[in-house]
Amino acid sequence: MKMFYQQFLAFFLMITITLLTLGMTFLGLSRSMFYQNTWDRLQDYAYAVKTQTMDIRQGKDSKVVVDKKKLVITEQMLSGRHIKISIYTEPDKLIFPDSKKATTKISSQCWSKLKRGQSVRAKTSDSKGFFKDSNRQLTNIYEPYLDIKGNLMAVVSVGTVMNGIEENLGEIKQNLLYAFFTAVVLGTIVSFVLTHYFTNRITKIQRATRQVANGDFDVKIDTYHHDELDDLAEDFNLMTQSLKESQVEIERQEQRRHELMANAAHEMRTPLTTINGLLEGMAYGALPEEDQEQCINLMRKETTRLIRLVNENLDYEKSRSGELVLAKTNFDATSAIKDVVSQLHKMAEDVGDRFIVKLPPLLNVYADKDRFIQIITNIGKNAVQFTRDGTITISGEKHGNDTMISIADTGIGMTDEEISNMWERYYKADPSRKVAKYGESGIGMAIVHQLLQLHHAKVCVDSAPGKGTTFTLLFPGEAIASDGSDQPQDDGSVVVDRCD
Ligand SMILES: Nc1ncnc2c1ncn2[C@@H]1O[C@H](COP(=O)(O)OP(=O)(O)OP(=O)(O)O)[C@@H](O)[C@H]1O
Ligand SMILES: [Mg+2]
Repeated sequence: MKMFYQQFLAFFLMITITLLTLGMTFLGLSRSMFYQNTWDRLQDYAYAVKTQTMDIRQGKDSKVVVDKKKLVITEQMLSGRHIKISIYTEPDKLIFPDSKKATTKISSQCWSKLKRGQSVRAKTSDSKGFFKDSNRQLTNIYEPYLDIKGNLMAVVSVGTVMNGIEENLGEIKQNLLYAFFTAVVLGTIVSFVLTHYFTNRITKIQRATRQVANGDFDVKIDTYHHDELDDLAEDFNLMTQSLKESQVEIERQEQRRHELMANAAHEMRTPLTTINGLLEGMAYGALPEEDQEQCINLMRKETTRLIRLVNENLDYEKSRSGELVLAKTNFDATSAIKDVVSQLHKMAEDVGDRFIVKLPPLLNVYADKDRFIQIITNIGKNAVQFTRDGTITISGEKHGNDTMISIADTGIGMTDEEISNMWERYYKADPSRKVAKYGESGIGMAIVHQLLQLHHAKVCVDSAPGKGTTFTLLFPGEAIASDGSDQPQDDGSVVVDRCD
């Protein structure tokens, strides 16, 4: 069944059941109220009859005497109200209206209650035809008349027809029926409007869901923070927003994968093309004898570059997948850094750069020595690569248990965007390599990043175009560094930021 009809039926049933319950309760209450009022009234009459028209004649056998004249007048006065008075001396014997056998006998159960001095209320049928249209229901009150010893001397019965009550109740019933129909009609209209309103909102959410299923994440449902449907719509909006972000991230990753593949192919093609050209020249004897040695040297250099590229990529992948296991020890960073500087010395000299080393004679660091040298070499090489006729200052000191090393150059520097992209594989700020002759594949800093993560080391970069660049590294001491696993963390905890 469609939601609209379900809701509508539910509303309709709810209204009907509520109105019926209320109606029945009201009717029941009215009926008992009417009867109570009538009985109270009859009781008052019975009391008046007892006190005003009855007396006990004392003698050998005490006897009840009634003032029949007064009783007849009273009955005539009350006849307009359909009141019937009778006085019993036995359950089936009357002394008023006539001393004869009663046609309406008081049951023995009632009589014993009356003997105990209790009043009795009863409903009987007017089989005797006291009232003009007979066979109607009567309601009676039986009031005992006791002597001073408490003996039952007589019973005053005051009765009336119930048609007045039933007529009143019938009127109430009719009014209730009108109210019921009016309420049902109004309720139906209201429930129709409400049902329409709710199904409309659900349909909106359903339509939006379909749009999302078709890949449109720009859909947004208006919400007013009113009810649960608004909460649902709010959650839906949050869901589409995060789906949209995921979609953007997936597209970014896909784009990144394409770029990586293209860059890797490009980086490989350059040395391969050089080698191929040289080989062809040699094969066709196009190269003069005296240039052949130079050609072989060039081919060796290109092959070394290819091997380095492959090795660095393998290193990077290993460190990312957690295959690279560090062998951390405490060693002297000063001597390790001095070794790196002497290796880069020639390269720096070629471009007019000068190394300044400001290190204490002994600087303990807890790291994998080979990987530590790889980190310093990559950063130092970059400093040389992007600095002309400048200085590269390497300093270091202990910060509690941690070891701080800084490498500052006076080179070309980087913009903020370049700093954040620098750690990406194959990223080069200047792909044409016009500014430096040593830059190669753009993988150096990506490896540095991975290795620093494995060491749980922190790094910050301070750089500005034309002003130079400073890398500050902080290697944690043994206790902290051994706490974490050697798995690379992708949560950005080592992620590099500008130095404050
Ligand atoms: N000290 C620096 N000064 C200016 N730019 C830098 C510096 N260090 C890194 N960069 C920028 O970051 C980019 C990435 O550096 P990375 O070391 O990863 O690659 P590369 O040096 O170009 O090649 P590779 O190191 O793989 O031989 C560089 O191309 C350069 O644009
Ligand atoms: Mg480099």
